[in-house]
Amino acid sequence: MRSLPAPSTILASLRARGFYRSDVQLSREEFLACMRALGDVKKPTEIRPRGPNPVLESGRPLLAHNDCNYYADFIAWYCRDDGGAGDRTFIVDAAPLLASLSPEELARLARVRVVLPNHEGGGTTVVRWQGGAPRLFYVPWALFHDGDPVVLDTLRRFHARVKEHTQRERVQGGPIALRSGEFLIVDDGRFMHGRDAVPDSAPRHLLRVYVKAASA
Ligand SMILES: [Fe+2]
Repeated sequence: MRSLPAPSTILASLRARGFYRSDVQLSREEFLACMRALGDVKKPTEIRPRGPNPVLESGRPLLAHNDCNYYADFIAWYCRDDGGAGDRTFIVDAAPLLASLSPEELARLARVRVVLPNHEGGGTTVVRWQGGAPRLFYVPWALFHDGDPVVLDTLRRFHARVKEHTQRERVQGGPIALRSGEFLIVDDGRFMHGRDAVPDSAPRHLLRVYVKAASA
């Protein structure tokens, strides 16, 4: 008989690898039950190409970015219908990007705000300090800064570094590709994510949630 993924299995994979991909087909309700077993489920959102959100649902490629790590721990996508395009998502390890930043660059990027009016708290900064360690939160289409040319130059260099790193080091396909009924959950502090263009003809349909871990 088919069994649902155990919360301890999902959390162990998130700790060890920073992500977990299910290997059984679940219903939408079973997926949500799995997520609720991990913690507080936030902002459930349906994503369909040609839906009302001009960025998320356009089918255009999305650059590597973060979604929620200043108010939740994990981002998960449940694949309602892969439409042959479920493997367009990629994830990329944020640790080498953080490690590449000098103390001066970290301080400059901590002055760049990420403004997200539809998210809890309305946003954060590209770099923030949490528990004595720097954390990254990058959303390249939602950045605001004070116009200081030194900050702007650091931001341009960082953006180029993210793009280059994404091309070279992305995880895509096999380990994370979703078919209908499967889900992927990713630690939004450890990985950025994005996607390549979704073909207009693909009926790709995802349900996305954020999870604030119960024991984090
Ligand atoms: Fe996203």
